[in-house]
Formats: sequence, structure tokens, C-alpha cells
Amino acid sequence: MEKIFSGIQPSGTLTLGNYLGAIKQFVELQNDYECYFCIVDEHAITVPQDRLKLRNNIRSLAALYLASGINPEKATLFIQSEVPAHTQLGWMLQSIGYVGELERMTQYKDKSSGKEAVSSALLTYPALMAADILLYQSNIVPVGDDQKQHLELTRDLAQRFNNRYNDIFTIPEIRIPKVGARIMSLQDPTKKMSKSDENEKGFISMLDEPKRIEKKMKSAVTDSEGIVKYDKENKPGISNLLTIYSSCTGESITNLEAKYEGKGYGEFKQDVANAVIALLAPIQEKYQELIESDVLDDILDQGAEKASFPANKTLNKAKKAMGLGRVKKKHK
Ligand code: TYM
Repeated sequence: MEKIFSGIQPSGTLTLGNYLGAIKQFVELQNDYECYFCIVDEHAITVPQDRLKLRNNIRSLAALYLASGINPEKATLFIQSEVPAHTQLGWMLQSIGYVGELERMTQYKDKSSGKEAVSSALLTYPALMAADILLYQSNIVPVGDDQKQHLELTRDLAQRFNNRYNDIFTIPEIRIPKVGARIMSLQDPTKKMSKSDENEKGFISMLDEPKRIEKKMKSAVTDSEGIVKYDKENKPGISNLLTIYSSCTGESITNLEAKYEGKGYGEFKQDVANAVIALLAPIQEKYQELIESDVLDDILDQGAEKASFPANKTLNKAKKAMGLGRVKKKHK
């Protein structure tokens, strides 16, 4: 069976962007692939984190994965720092990555620009991400559009390792959803919707209450044309809302354009809000049940155990290929 790996950082409550770009695909894919879904807490510490908040975010993310429909009977759900092979292989891959290629990553440039104290881990982060993926011999990596560059680097590192040492790693393919790969900010539709946005009106959190979702949708930046039409260049705001609507309901953008012909933005925005509320309400309900129960710990314990097996197997092969450790002398 083909394998899938993907991860999400526990760096704040997930946004609608995370759901539509990533989790929604995970839920569909878990039926047909051997899936590993990870809470990548070691990635989150590449920027400063408050200890208690991080711990809460880890738990909350686990509950959100499950509430969204990840089934622990089908997929392995675990916390990155509970499977030490990730950082071990991450270090080994750093040794074959070049500073130049890491410095070219747009995410690094964005997160470090204008800052004085930039952690070295922020630069070497893609090597750890490559390790996450390669440890499981993943064939496919479902992500949003913003992870494309990291995936290309993962493929380069895997190929470099295979050529230099031994043919150990499967070269993974990226999988990006046709609609919803890049949900934009509601306040600045030329920018990605992000959980770290300082302006809360820019993003919808997966745990936002219906009233709040409605309010944020109503204040979403659009244009003065008054025509509901997909045109990313000239109407980025409306195009983003159409994408959200289509991705939440499965209705095609062309159908939606026809449905709102001659109607104003007010009605359209209200309907987009309703679609988002309808999508998130059952997830929020399940989330509340899970966060207060102790099944989470059992699932995460089992997940770490299940993930460790294939991860250690690949790690040992990679160590051997690089000449790390020793080969024991046989006793006479
Ligand atoms: P992260 O935590 O920023 O985002 C998690 C997933 O959500 C997607 N995403 C979006 N999709 C559509 N529209 C948006 N506005 C939007 N914002 C985020 C991301 O593309 C991602 O799929 N480096 C990764 C985490 C990671 C990982 C991995 C992913 C670590 N190791 C291995 C895949 C495989 C990250 O920071 O994602």
C-alpha cells in the first residue's frame, strides 16, 4: 500500500486555510493509503513559543485532527517529538543540505526578514521536514500550496542522499488540492490566510463561533464592482470567497457564479458564512467532547509506538549507509 505523510504545526488554533488546504484531503486519503499524520511540535519551536501555550496547542491540534475525521483505526496520529528518529534523521539531512538552498526558502525569508534574533533552526527547518517525510518512505505528501518549495527541497535531499550513499529513500510526490490550495486572508486577499496573522479578522479559526464567522465574513475585503465572478487578478477578495464557498460545499465555482448573477455581495457573503458555519459546527462539537476526554492520550501513545517502527527501520538504514555508529564484531 502506498504511504502518505503530512504534518501540521501546533502554533495556534488552526485556520480554515489549514482545514481546506490540508486536513480535508487527509480525511479523504486515509481510506486508500497507509497514512501518518503528525503534530510537528519540533517545527513549532523554530520561533519562540510559550511553554504552556505550546502544550495546549499540541493537545488541541490532536483533538482537531480527530474531530475533523481522522480515524486512528485507519491512520497513525502522533507527536513528532515522541518519535526521536525525526530529529536524528533531520540532523543527518542537514549535513547534506547546503546553506545556499536553505536561504532561498521563501518561508525562511519571510519569517526572518527584519528580525535580529533568528534561530538557526528556522534556517535548517526544511531538513527536519524532509526527515519527517522520508522516514516513512512516503509516496505522497498532501499539503497546501505554500509547502511546494519545501517539498522540492525534500526531493532534492532524498535524491542527493540516494546518489551519494545508498538508494534508501522513496522520492515523494506532492499533492495539492484543486480548489483550496491557498486560502487567502479575508483582510488582505493577496496574502495567505495564516494562524499567526496579527489581525484576527484576516483568518477564520476552526473554533470560531458562528457569530464571529459571520462578522469576519461580512468585513471581508472585496471590491466595488458588485459582480460575483472569479478573477484572481482583479477581484482577489471575491475570488477567495468563491474558493472558500466551493471548497466547503463541493459546488463548482462556475455554478456559484451563475447562482449569484445579479445579486449583491451582502447575500453572497452571508451564504459563504453559512457554508463555513455548517462545515465547522459538527467538527467543533466533536472537538469539545474529545478535548475533555482521556482517549486522546491513548491514541497518541499508540500512534507514537506505531510510527516508531517504520521510522527506526529507515533511520537505521540511513545511519548504516552514512557510516554512523558501528557494526558489531561477531563473538567467536
Ligand atoms: P503549517 O502548519 O503552516 O500548515 C499545515 C498545512 O496547512 C496548509 N495551509 C494552507 N492551505 C491552504 N490555504 C492556506 N491559507 C493554508 N495555510 C496553511 C499547509 O500548506 C500545510 O499543508 N512545514 C509545514 C509542516 C510540516 C510538514 C512536514 C508538512 C512539517 N513537516 C512534512 C508536510 C510534510 C507547515 O509549517 O505547515
